Amino acid sequence: MSTKYFHLTVKEVIEETADTKTFTFWHPIHQAISYKAGQFLTLIPVIDGQKVRRSYSMSSSPNKDASIAVTVKRVPNGLVSNYLCDTLKVGDAIEVMEPMGHFVIEPNPTKSRTVVLFGGGSGVTPLMSIAKSVLPVETATKVYLVYGSRNEESIIFKQQLAALEAQYSGRFKVVHVLSQPSAAWTGDKTRINQALAERFLTQELGNDITKAEYYLCGPAGMMEQVTTSLTLAKVPTTQIHQEHFTSTHGGTAIVEEEEDDSLKEQTVTIQYEGNDYTVVVKPHETILDAALRDDIDLPYSCQAGMCTACLGKCTSGKVVMDEEDGLTDNEIKQGYILTCVAHPKTAGVVIEID
Ligand SMILES: Cc1cc2nc3c(=O)[nH]c(=O)nc-3n(C[C@H](O)[C@H](O)[C@H](O)COP(=O)(O)OP(=O)(O)OC[C@H]3O[C@@H](n4cnc5c(N)ncnc54)[C@H](O)[C@@H]3O)c2cc1C
Ligand code: FES
Repeated sequence: MSTKYFHLTVKEVIEETADTKTFTFWHPIHQAISYKAGQFLTLIPVIDGQKVRRSYSMSSSPNKDASIAVTVKRVPNGLVSNYLCDTLKVGDAIEVMEPMGHFVIEPNPTKSRTVVLFGGGSGVTPLMSIAKSVLPVETATKVYLVYGSRNEESIIFKQQLAALEAQYSGRFKVVHVLSQPSAAWTGDKTRINQALAERFLTQELGNDITKAEYYLCGPAGMMEQVTTSLTLAKVPTTQIHQEHFTSTHGGTAIVEEEEDDSLKEQTVTIQYEGNDYTVVVKPHETILDAALRDDIDLPYSCQAGMCTACLGKCTSGKVVMDEEDGLTDNEIKQGYILTCVAHPKTAGVVIEID
């Protein structure tokens, strides 16, 4: 099935904080874009004549909001986040790739469960979509959000979260954690860490810790510490979902390639949309880079092994990856690879892309 691209028109620009904006879009005429709560959209702006791609999670809810929305936080010196915040305005059109991602929840009215969301900074965006989507549909489900920000002014969706808490009183609880709050702050003054996660889980969930479902999205350190506390509490890994916005190896769109002198130039066959493409992959080049150099229009978004937009299956030969965090051990065992961080290790590599 081929990847779909759309041109979306900006409907509204909302200033959430001094460095964060939400962009809502009109659905294309005659064709509503369908997505799941927690998925991301790939924005493809043209900057200085070059098309660039970045992933942005939907902050809107597919079952509650009429418009599709993303929320972008400026990264210091970041190319795309600043371009979008500085220049994208109502009425502008922007190319996007269809929604993707596995960090999802499917609201189900027959379910009664506990969903715990841990977020930091811009990592709150998919969690907002998840909370807004689950609460109205699952009327017996409880949702908790533990949300780390720098200070009171940098809390994204502060009012919307307070309004949701009031609307779903007793079923939605937000715990704000601030690392550098004002003197008037009476809540937790720290970053979200293992001790805070453990205290929260014991106080709020007690014996139900292992039954809840967990969604984590924020800085790598926060994700590691919360995962440690969940693992120590014996939460099954299938109940822990994670979305990484930045590579744990540093950088977003760039993965530091580890020098592997055993890599040689190899010819790789890529099977995509019913065609067989042959590409020559140079040492230290990724399979995706080689394909793009040859103008083969493969799907991709983050180019850093985090989002899985470039997922393929290696059906012959051997491949090594710079970064494996985006895939589960089971997926790796089944031969799945991420072409943006994969290099052919042997001759005769064949990659199937759905
Ligand atoms: C699946 C997924 C979903 C995402 N969803 C969102 C979202 O909803 N909202 C959102 O704002 N972003 C989101 N991101 C991050 C987004 O895709 C970009 O990576 C981010 O906007 C930075 O892009 P840039 O072009 O501005 O920075 P770049 O030009 O790519 O990077 C500039 C410099 O900043 C550093 N850097 C990049 N990101 C960060 C960071 N977060 N913190 C500190 N330093 C950084 C880089 O290492 C680089 O040195 C998501 C990423 C992924 C993979
Ligand atoms: S493009 Fe995101 S994992 Fe490869």
